[in-house]
Amino acid sequence: MSQSIYPPSSEFSAKAHVSGMEGYNALYEKAKDDPEAFWGELAEKELFWFEKWNHVFEWNPPFVKWFAGGKTNVSYNCVDRHLTTPRKNKVAILWEGEPGDQRMITYQELHRLVSRFANVLKARGFKEGDRAIVYMPMVPELPVALLACARLGITHSVVFGGFSAEALKARIQDLDAGVVITADGGWRRGKEVRLKDAVDESLAGCPSVKDVIVLKRTGSNVTMKEGRDHWWHDLDATASEDCPAVPLDSEHPLYVLYTSGTTGKPKGILHTTGGYLLQATMTMKWVFDLKEEDTYWCTADIGWVTGHSYIVYGPLSAGATSVMYEGAPDFPAFDRFWRIVEKYRVTTFYTSPTAIRALLRQGDQWPNMHDLSSLRLLGSVGEPINPAAWEWYHRVIGKGRCPIVDTWWQTETGAIMIAPMPGAVPLKPGSGTLPLPGILPDIVDFNGIPMEEGREGFLIVRRPWPSMLRTLWGDPERYKENYWSRIPGIYFTGDAARRDADGYYWILGRVDDVMNVSGHRLSTMEVESALVRHPAVAEAAVVGRPHEITGQAVCCFVTLKKGDYDPAVLGKELRQWVAHEIGAFARPEEIRFTEGLPKTRSGKIMRRLLREIVTSNAVTGDVTTLEDMGSITRLAAQHDEE
Ligand code: WT7
Repeated sequence: MSQSIYPPSSEFSAKAHVSGMEGYNALYEKAKDDPEAFWGELAEKELFWFEKWNHVFEWNPPFVKWFAGGKTNVSYNCVDRHLTTPRKNKVAILWEGEPGDQRMITYQELHRLVSRFANVLKARGFKEGDRAIVYMPMVPELPVALLACARLGITHSVVFGGFSAEALKARIQDLDAGVVITADGGWRRGKEVRLKDAVDESLAGCPSVKDVIVLKRTGSNVTMKEGRDHWWHDLDATASEDCPAVPLDSEHPLYVLYTSGTTGKPKGILHTTGGYLLQATMTMKWVFDLKEEDTYWCTADIGWVTGHSYIVYGPLSAGATSVMYEGAPDFPAFDRFWRIVEKYRVTTFYTSPTAIRALLRQGDQWPNMHDLSSLRLLGSVGEPINPAAWEWYHRVIGKGRCPIVDTWWQTETGAIMIAPMPGAVPLKPGSGTLPLPGILPDIVDFNGIPMEEGREGFLIVRRPWPSMLRTLWGDPERYKENYWSRIPGIYFTGDAARRDADGYYWILGRVDDVMNVSGHRLSTMEVESALVRHPAVAEAAVVGRPHEITGQAVCCFVTLKKGDYDPAVLGKELRQWVAHEIGAFARPEEIRFTEGLPKTRSGKIMRRLLREIVTSNAVTGDVTTLEDMGSITRLAAQHDEE
């Protein structure tokens, strides 16, 4: 554990939304003692409601409703309500494409774009309660599509552009979506990511899809299916700019976002309206200390929850200027991020430890080529940040002036849960520090008994919070089982953590079979099921192995069916196969062929053992339940030969 402590500077504190530990403690205590009053007052003050709610929350474990009976609209809160304020001509979305093209969309312009596209959806017959799949590059029409859906009460599900046609199809089917909103392609490292082709491939077997709306981004050749496929610009050209936001129940489903669980089937995390938006909005102020004059940039992709809450909904609801970049951080050179920071005078920069480590490795000359003096606050998300990366981020990017907010949260939590309020809470590199107001985490053992200070245990959350997931789409049983049964009635995060003498939280990583590759969650089981779908594969076991840049790398142990194979050729083919089945980001780093897999007598693959092999190449601990000791020895020996 690091010894260094970084208290907020007095200049930062003086101007912050929340100043000093007294400020933090007062909010935290109020939320803890009277959550109803705390959240009720914030909801009234921070959001627009068509009709007020009956109860702040209703908790029927494990199901919760926030502001039930209240009527609001996320699109109205993110766009319309700013139009009667001086923000009307403020840039809402400051966009840069990978090739260098740029667009600055004000709140008024955003209102026109969103209203027109909502009318397009309406004209095609889509309405409250329908579902839309959004599979787009990082272009302004992506948030426009989300806000148009939200305006009408169409539940959206964004599928990250890096997912394959197979993964896309599974999500369309699970959601029974009526419309797919996509583009011809997008730019990534100078190459086109062809999205429409993947949509075409996925749609065989998706009878629910009536319409595909295609944005022209790259201008490359795509096939348009008569009657089903329509160009965005054709439909949009004649659409009216008048499309009032529909008053929706506070618990109306805003979006479903699929994330990896411990089985091969992704989980559809459901987020709803009022509570989600309130917490996304509040965390913008508490954690990013958002000021009217800030230029705020979250480098995530909108395909992940970070982009939903901290590129689209949080920033726009709070009236921010939100920067959006289409492409890769290393294109055309390793200074792309710093070039963008300098060009737009970015004040607040939020990225992942993976990106920081990758850029750190390229050397200080890249950031040093640029004037980064506009920065005042830095953020980190997705995985624990190691001290070396933290230190570099603080010194070379923040020039020692900028607090770093290390934000712990999950797709399920909807918004940041544990993070410093930068004008109040002293930082310790590698710790998310303290929980935000209204969040009651704890660290417990198998029986739910709180752990002593400094001891490792399961991270849990004791009380429902506004932006909590409501259920898993179409599978309330799995929702109960996954999150609320390990310790009955208490939210189980799947993370291990410990708490130090100051009450600071230190996240130690997942305790389930979920890997974290570049801050993206990936299930070992999902990769295994993809592998065994390949005709040559008999069995597969997948583990995450520590990786210098990406945190973890996908490592696969594979046994083959009878046949003659060239391991080098097949290894390459299997890596490509996984990329095709799931997406390029899931491509395994390593495939190891083996004659047998270590199993317990009941036939369960011993992943712990495999993890040890890939981590240290040494096997320790109790292996007496192994069926075939030989297979382990052979695995270890094979590694020595490589
Ligand atoms: C898992 C959630 C919501 C952010 C993007 C990832 C890990 C996330 C941190 C952090 C240590 C972190 C946890 C968590 N994680 N942020 N600041 N420090 N670990 O969302 O895919 O839902 O993954 O990411 O293990 O459970 P996700």
